[in-house]
Amino acid sequence: MALQEEQKKILCVGLVCLDIISVVDKFPQEDSDSRCLSQRWQRGGNASNSCTVLSLLGSPCAFMGSLCAGPVASFILEDFQRFQVDVSLLRKCGCGAPTSLVISNNGTGSRTILHSNSNIAEVTLDDFNAVDLSAFKWIHWEGRNADEQVKMITRVERYNQTVAPERMIVVSVEIEKPREKLYQLFDRADVVFVSKDVARHLGFQTPTCALRGLRPRLRPGAVLICAWAEKGADAADADGTLLHSDAFPPERVLDTLGAGDTFNAAVIHKLARGRPLQEALTFGCRVAGAKCGFHGYDDIAHTGLI
Ligand code: ADP
Ligand code: FRU
Repeated sequence: MALQEEQKKILCVGLVCLDIISVVDKFPQEDSDSRCLSQRWQRGGNASNSCTVLSLLGSPCAFMGSLCAGPVASFILEDFQRFQVDVSLLRKCGCGAPTSLVISNNGTGSRTILHSNSNIAEVTLDDFNAVDLSAFKWIHWEGRNADEQVKMITRVERYNQTVAPERMIVVSVEIEKPREKLYQLFDRADVVFVSKDVARHLGFQTPTCALRGLRPRLRPGAVLICAWAEKGADAADADGTLLHSDAFPPERVLDTLGAGDTFNAAVIHKLARGRPLQEALTFGCRVAGAKCGFHGYDDIAHTGLI
């Protein structure tokens, strides 16, 4: 029997990794030997973090990405389970687990990431061809192996041509790293999240300049969203109207790790329910801002924003 629209999930395709986080009150000096305030393991990766937040906000979701067997995989799987993220589309691979060493500075909230990716086998079109698209209302791609991701998006576009408008899958992409290959994703999505790093790399010093300058890269009618840390976030609506939300800083900024992933998830959560872009943008900034006030993601459930 066909799923009702409200039963359909949001699928996030991208990275899951292990974050080993050391919390410090002062950034260490090179070649020094100091104690940190605390240390923890956390499931990480943009798409994986966004799934955590979607789930906390009450959007049923699934993760698709590669995971290698071993003790790290058990930790990651248990954590996905804890947040009720559907992992039936996980791709098993034989490499080591991608890992980030993160220095999280309680003094400033900054997060310094040293990422190691042991040649992870990314999701391919072959893997994606096995996905039952009728289970999803929205598919979000974290820009990675863009050549292959374009082929997956093409499959969704073809699928969308065969279904009634209300059953069409919305496609979003995140272009976070300043890599030429990723830029082919700009005109392949209904909703494009572009980072301030990419915007700056392409010569735009403010969110408004970035939206104006990058919008011609999108296909007609697509939405462009650009988050800018403590300056909040801006967006260009389908008709080109520019929107803005200020940031909502917490009393004390403690942990900005995954603020962008939180923002993306909160925006998608609202848009997938048909809410207006301005509401989604403001909600994204509220949830991401609140997240900066605590470690990890669990406390999103207690922010009063859900
Ligand atoms: P990333 O984690 O990708 O670097 P950004 O820094 O662009 O993401 O932040 C995403 C969103 O998180 C911003 O739009 C903002 O709403 C919120 N945010 C990030 N840093 C802060 C901060 N210091 N104070 C308040 N909100 C913040
Ligand atoms: C945060 C994050 C971390 C991960 C790193 C990978 O946005 O997804 O969880 O270690 O980025 O680049």
